[in-house]
Amino acid sequence: MEFDFEKDPLENFLKSIHQAEIESVVQNISDFNAMALSTAKDNKPSSRMVLFKGLVRGGFSFYTHYNGRKGCELSENNNVAATFFWPYLDHQINVKGQAFKLTVAESDAYFESRARQSQIGAWASQQSRELKSREDFEEKIKFFENKFKDQTIPRPDNWGGWHILPLEIEFWFAQVNRLHYRYVYHREDVNHEWQRRMRYP
Ligand SMILES: Cc1cc2nc3c(=O)[nH]c(=O)nc-3n(C[C@H](O)[C@H](O)[C@H](O)COP(=O)(O)O)c2cc1C
Repeated sequence: MEFDFEKDPLENFLKSIHQAEIESVVQNISDFNAMALSTAKDNKPSSRMVLFKGLVRGGFSFYTHYNGRKGCELSENNNVAATFFWPYLDHQINVKGQAFKLTVAESDAYFESRARQSQIGAWASQQSRELKSREDFEEKIKFFENKFKDQTIPRPDNWGGWHILPLEIEFWFAQVNRLHYRYVYHREDVNHEWQRRMRYP
């Protein structure tokens, strides 16, 4: 295990995810950048996977519908947790922090980079709402394909990015006999220095 606790946690994170990406290519494994994102509303948590799309202004970014379940929960309570796990590295990273919307320009830039059919999907999906029949969704897809035929597809206002500004980042490395390492960086708020401590496994 190559890990330097003296280094900045974001630097260590980038090293980990880079290693995960390389290994995922070698082993032909998809979604090395997937993270489980947990939100909570009225003391009731919910989790789902999202794709991490890079560190943006010191925060872990991802993109989604703003008015889906997670979007609404985040608007009410922006305290979140996110977990990366790469079984092929036996390495887990846990992040706790607060989520904030990315700027319009940042969301636009990412939306532009998406495949056209994913852009159509962002318009056609009413994320997390009940879908009565698959045909309803397919009709909406056709509708937006026609609407935007031969045009650049703009980003829907209700779709965009968030970034999680971390207050705690834990690096977990599996060891034999479950005598794992846990290295924790913690700070009271984003203007404070990182505190370092280890935890029992
Ligand atoms: C590997 C993986 C990656 C995913 N990435 C995203 C993502 O980046 N954004 C997103 O909105 N949903 C993503 N999803 C779908 C979500 O897990 C979830 O079903 C969806 O966002 C609706 O969640 P919600 O109803 O809690 O808002 C992904 C699912 C998987 C399995």
